[in-house]
Amino acid sequence: MMNNNIITIHDKQFKPLLSEQEINEKICAIADQINALHLEHPLCLSVLNGAYMFTAELCKHLHNFPVISFIKVASYEGTHSSGNVTELLGLNEDLHGKTIIIIEDIIDTGTTIESIYSKCIEQGAKTVYIATLVYKPQAYKGNAPIHFIGFSIPNDFVVGYGMDYNGIGRNLKEIYVLHTN
Ligand code: IMP
Ligand code: MG
Repeated sequence: MMNNNIITIHDKQFKPLLSEQEINEKICAIADQINALHLEHPLCLSVLNGAYMFTAELCKHLHNFPVISFIKVASYEGTHSSGNVTELLGLNEDLHGKTIIIIEDIIDTGTTIESIYSKCIEQGAKTVYIATLVYKPQAYKGNAPIHFIGFSIPNDFVVGYGMDYNGIGRNLKEIYVLHTN
C-alpha cells in the first residue's frame, strides 16, 4: 500500500513517488530480463553508495551465480550534480574479457555512468551492460547505452531505496520525490 506521508529530511519535504511493492516488482522484472540473457558468471559492479539496496535485491533474483563487486564514486553535492566524478574506492577486479553489469541506483546527467562505463571498456571488458533502478531521460547527456531501466522519471530530485539527500534517506524502502509547494 502506498502511503501518503510527507517526510522531512534536513530542510526539505518529500512526498511518496514509488511504493515498496512497485519497486520490488520492477526489480523482479529486470532480473527476468537479465536471466533471459543466460550470462555466465557476469560481474555485477555495484556503484556505492546509492546502489547498495538495488544491488542486494536484484542479485537475489539472478540465476547463474554472478560475481558481485563494488566501486565507490561521488559526484553529487546536495541536490545537484557537481559535474566531476571522484573515485573513492577503486576496482580490484581484472576486467579483461569479462561480462559486466554496472548497477546504478539512478542515472541523471550520466557523468557518473559514462566515467565507469569507459573505464570498463578501457580495461578490456568483453561486454558491458548497464542496469539502473531510476533514470532521468531529460537530464541524461551521456552516450553509454542503458540496457535495463526500472523507472523513467521527470527531472526531479528523489530519495529512498539507497538514494540520499546529504547522507539521509538511503534506508527508506520506498522512493520519495521533492515536494515543491
Ligand atoms: P549523474 O552522474 O548526474 O548521472 O548522477 C548520478 C549519481 O548522482 C547517482 O548515482 C546518485 O548517486 C546521484 N543522484 C542523481 N540524481 C539523484 C537524485 O535525484 N537523488 C539522489 N541522488 C541522485
Ligand atoms: Mg549512485
